[in-house]
Amino acid sequence: MRLWPANWWPRTLGAQLVVMTAAAVLLSNVAVASWFQLVQSRATESAINDRIIDRAVSAATLLSAIPARQREAAARALSSNVWHFSIHHGKPDGLPMADDERAMAARVEALLPKHKIKEPVIVDFRAPRSGEAFQSGTRPVSVITIMVPVVRGTELLTTFYRPPPAPWPLQIVIAAVVAILTTSIAAAFIASRVARPLSQLAASASQAARGGQAEHVPEEGPDDVRRAAHAFNVMTDQVARTLARQRQLLSAVGHDLRTPITAMRISAEFVGDEEIRERLQRNLEELQDLTDAVLSAARGAGWEAMRKVDLAALIESVCTDLEDMDKPVKWGAHGAAPLMCRPSEIRRATRNLIENAIAYGGKADVRLTETPEIYEIVVEDSGPGIAEEDRIRVFDPFVRLESSRSSETGGSGLGLTLVKAIAEGHGGSVTLENRPEGGLRVCLCLPRKALGA
Ligand SMILES: Nc1ncnc2c1ncn2[C@@H]1O[C@H](COP(=O)(O)OP(=O)(O)OP(=O)(O)O)[C@@H](O)[C@H]1O
Ligand SMILES: [Mg+2]
Repeated sequence: MRLWPANWWPRTLGAQLVVMTAAAVLLSNVAVASWFQLVQSRATESAINDRIIDRAVSAATLLSAIPARQREAAARALSSNVWHFSIHHGKPDGLPMADDERAMAARVEALLPKHKIKEPVIVDFRAPRSGEAFQSGTRPVSVITIMVPVVRGTELLTTFYRPPPAPWPLQIVIAAVVAILTTSIAAAFIASRVARPLSQLAASASQAARGGQAEHVPEEGPDDVRRAAHAFNVMTDQVARTLARQRQLLSAVGHDLRTPITAMRISAEFVGDEEIRERLQRNLEELQDLTDAVLSAARGAGWEAMRKVDLAALIESVCTDLEDMDKPVKWGAHGAAPLMCRPSEIRRATRNLIENAIAYGGKADVRLTETPEIYEIVVEDSGPGIAEEDRIRVFDPFVRLESSRSSETGGSGLGLTLVKAIAEGHGGSVTLENRPEGGLRVCLCLPRKALGA
């Protein structure tokens, strides 16, 4: 059986620090106050015992000095709410006494003049009987009775009703509340100095993980947190520099390949054998496509002007082009879907996804879905899908999975890299998931509002 809910423990660093500090302060306050109470109650007990003994002895001495007939009245006059005095005639009942009772009786006897001890002193500690209560209604915690000889055959019966200890003073409670409040505020302050930079760091890291540029985090807060933020910023710069170098390299290769390809295409026109010429031209076209893809990937998204287009019509035209080439493409018709975008980029991205679906999944089912915030271009196939552990790296340039490299499907491994760059250039994203019924589902998600649809 669970005594508290599973999610009782706060999740954030700040809340944990505040709860732990408040609990620690509360515990230490309770411990100190209890210890203080214990020490005080021991001191009070011994002081009370001294008073009881003193009262009993002095009252007995007083009563022994006055005429016998006045003793009853005098005993009554000495009585109060917590003290009760009465006169007892005859021999006292010799109760068997416990150790602590005997010890107190001995202390009383030590204070009495020796010639007065005609009878033994008797002490009795007991619990209050029902009905024994103070005028306020509270019951005493214990009752102490001492029987002291006054003169031969007369004893003074002193009964002390011990009041309950005072509750914890309000000051202790107020001090504990103030201590808890101040330490909690201090803990919240420290937590905010640590937690804010940490959550900025987490936000920036996850932005980088989603493929964006990681932002610098402020180097503030305690030393260790500041050092972590600094290390993160250095790493971010390093990653950005490496990516820029890669892009420059790709761009240079792509650019330098264009001129010789163009020259070769011109030369190919002069090849006499028609079959060889056509094959040469086909190969050069492929090479040209690859070069264009390299250049686009190097440039990244964003070089074309934004234009308002009907996204549904745009996808439909891509599908129709491929259908005309006898490719197995199915388009689920959709009403007008206005979107501000770079149409050639979106066309290229959609085409890449459809070509992948056909090449690796045998067919492409394409549809457009929408919510008030986004348009989603969904491309499904019935191929083997992509294993979970490969779903991130397939977006890296030139990555082709083992199965595709060995198959007949020639490709450069840049298609998905481009699709991702284009999606992110539009503020969107690409996701891959394997369908339960088999095949891959790729979703190209484009925000409608962010770019002014
Ligand atoms: N629909 C899919 N089903 C299974 N695997 C896929 C699918 N789409 C892509 N892949 C895998 O991801 C790899 C990378 O795809 P990507 O489109 O980036 O490159 P490519 O198709 O090999 O070459 P190209 O640059 O001509 O597109 C592919 O080689 C393939 O292994
Ligand atoms: Mg591809």
